[in-house]
Amino acid sequence: MVIKKIENIIINVFGNEEKLFGKICFTIDLLNKKALRTGKNLYLALSGGNTPGKLYEYILQNYGQIINWENIHFFWSDERCVDFDSSESNSGAAYRSFLSQLNIPKSNIHFPDCLENAGKSATYYENIIKSLLPAKNGLPVFDIIFLGLGEDGHTASIFPDQTNLLNSEKLVDVSVHPVSGQNRITFTPKLMNNAGNIFFLVMGEKKSGIVQKIIMKNNYNGNVYPVNLIKLLQGNIIWFLDTESAKNLV
Ligand code: 6PG
Repeated sequence: MVIKKIENIIINVFGNEEKLFGKICFTIDLLNKKALRTGKNLYLALSGGNTPGKLYEYILQNYGQIINWENIHFFWSDERCVDFDSSESNSGAAYRSFLSQLNIPKSNIHFPDCLENAGKSATYYENIIKSLLPAKNGLPVFDIIFLGLGEDGHTASIFPDQTNLLNSEKLVDVSVHPVSGQNRITFTPKLMNNAGNIFFLVMGEKKSGIVQKIIMKNNYNGNVYPVNLIKLLQGNIIWFLDTESAKNLV
């Protein structure tokens, strides 16, 4: 059920996972059918972390044979610079648990491999995106970028106080995890804010505090959370919350 629509921000709260994931799949299928009717591909960027795993299970069980996967290109909105076989790898985990079990041409899956050299990998990934995606406002346009939300307000791999990334002129840049020091590559707000849709998938009670701060617009020591800089120029920001993560929203 939608609890709030402010300009182009839609906040959905769902009482159960099936309805939440069903809404996401219905929307992907709708956008994909529209793209197919006009002879276009659909360009999706998946988020990292653990939450998407439950969505992938649902998709395999309920939409594996419904969505025309051959028309969809997959990217990742951020990646840890680890071995593909590592459980830490966002693209490795998604491929093993989800994409490898669907009828998707390997050429439609664009892995952000940044194990060797994060800087060169970020530039290489940015160039693939620029070469494949349609452009608007002179920038590549993703149809849907999935994002998660960390308890510290980070999204993709843009962490609080990383103003260099928030203001980056690049589309894909290098990030360093503030605690582990792990190298990562991440979409920047410059790229994300040009998307057609951004889907925030945030579930579980431990996220209820940060969800309240972000959506109720509480500032953070005078700055704003990275998420607050995600403002779409022409698309919709759609929050997919469960009742646990949304429990502090009034
Ligand atoms: C990453 C992510 C990150 C993630 C959030 C939420 O690579 O870690 O992209 O932004 O989406 O930290 O992660 P959980 O779903 O595991 O809570």
